[in-house]
Amino acid sequence: GTLTVADYVGKKSVDLRLRPTSKLFFELNSADDYDKLHVDGNLNYWNIGQDFATSDKTPIVYLQPVEGNQLKVGDRLTLISAKKKSARGDVAWNFRIQYPKTLTWEVREIEDGDSFSLVAEVVSMDYSGQGDVNVDDEGNPDNPVNPDDPDDGFDEKTDKTPLREYAAHLGKYIGVAAPCWSYDINNFNDANTKTIGAEFNMVVSENGMKFENTEQSKNSFNYALGDAAVRLGEHYDCLIRGHVFAWHKQNAPWVTENDNKNSHNYSRAELLGILKNHIFKVAAHFKGKVTEWDVVNECLSDDQTAIRNNPDAYDLRHSVWYDGIGEDFIDSAFVWARQADPELKLYLTDYGAEFKGVAKTEALYNLAKRLVKNNIPLDGVGLQCHLDAGAVDERKLSQTVASYKALGLECIITELDLGCDGTQAGFEQQAKDYAAVTRVWLNNDNCPKMVIWGLKDSDSWRGSSPLLFQENLNRKPAYYAVHRELRRAAQQLTGVENPIIECPVDSQPSHYYNLQGQRISCPQSAGIYIVNGRKVLRK
Ligand code: XIL
Repeated sequence: GTLTVADYVGKKSVDLRLRPTSKLFFELNSADDYDKLHVDGNLNYWNIGQDFATSDKTPIVYLQPVEGNQLKVGDRLTLISAKKKSARGDVAWNFRIQYPKTLTWEVREIEDGDSFSLVAEVVSMDYSGQGDVNVDDEGNPDNPVNPDDPDDGFDEKTDKTPLREYAAHLGKYIGVAAPCWSYDINNFNDANTKTIGAEFNMVVSENGMKFENTEQSKNSFNYALGDAAVRLGEHYDCLIRGHVFAWHKQNAPWVTENDNKNSHNYSRAELLGILKNHIFKVAAHFKGKVTEWDVVNECLSDDQTAIRNNPDAYDLRHSVWYDGIGEDFIDSAFVWARQADPELKLYLTDYGAEFKGVAKTEALYNLAKRLVKNNIPLDGVGLQCHLDAGAVDERKLSQTVASYKALGLECIITELDLGCDGTQAGFEQQAKDYAAVTRVWLNNDNCPKMVIWGLKDSDSWRGSSPLLFQENLNRKPAYYAVHRELRRAAQQLTGVENPIIECPVDSQPSHYYNLQGQRISCPQSAGIYIVNGRKVLRK
């Protein structure tokens, strides 16, 4: 029958909100006799507030021809009609279609300004095998943006092109955190610094520009460690990131002796004065050398409860700044950083906010949205990406990065490291996940930078071998995985290395890229596309 969602009494428009796990079943008998859903208002996709674990799923439409049905070729069944299909933050979403194992169907979503409909047409009486592929046991399609990309058989070790060269060719920055211990970053003949200079076109000081190192006592500044990172970056022609102004950790003891408290009981005015002076002095010192700063780092609480009741909310973490000043320490920090050096790009960074649908991810988005709305100078957010091998969801990460476009913000990767168990299998999984993060970086225009949090496993702040190089600077599978993605993207961009081959319209390769190297769904029109690393002329 027909299910209509409307408010006949109040005569108000009524929206239908679909959850990630929504399943819509349509029994179909004939062109005149089938289940229909009519929504008087909008059909809204809503993945906030529940089901964080499964939010990569989108609503599924099940086509269910009944036994003895009268369906024939050419029957067009309008299964769903509504005013508009929408989603919070204007994220693109589609229904997944669960096809029956009978007949061949074409299902189209038709949107024209003031109406949306989902139409299923019978195109053949034969079953084409449609829907058999890419569907897991539960009937859910597998992850379409995380394919096991076909290996092009290329031995990465034979290509000595450094990472930064491919990155530069693509207009991207690959960064590394330089430590201030372990090896001398002032010595440019050292194999470690040489590797940094050879492979990376961006550096950040791992600890040298933090409060505890720059302002050890009140209004007395020491830039030795930060300056060393600047010299390293300048010597090797790298962009230099600044890290960090306002953070709950690694403050000088005179500011707080407890990461989560205003332990010296400063007044609001005193703390505003301390933070302002710190930002102005440090930004002025590095002006013209450091081109961007992490202004506020990790200000969100790990426990995000508020968002479950209010989709625009976020919970902030206790810290000397938040507890002593209030939420506006964030706003002030950004405004001061812009005033101190108007050329700087300014970032809001956090961890645990990588994957779309997770509460903290939504919280970071909400905070960024609030800042943008209030005209606070913010250029982008940074996803730290301290993750473990096996825990990277390429699709959700890509969705998060892309979501910031709606706010006009960059979303960059600022502290990537991927822990693993140190076994062969662990290193292989780690390599796959590095490849996945690299693709997200390369495939999103608003993600110009990917910074890896250290050079060698032996120097990492984590004990889980999370980086690209071994202690002896040997390259790990993870290095080659990043290299491979960069090489392929660079080749796709130029196309020079790959011949044009012809591809008839009826063949359906699964992964298309446009000539800018952006992934697109299967194109309907003729033209030149990239398929499996080759230029393809689609006629
Ligand atoms: C880490 C450094 O890597 C360590 O050397 C130091 O002892 C602690 O801080 N999030 C951040 C980084 O923003 O500054 C942290 O760096 C890692 C977590």
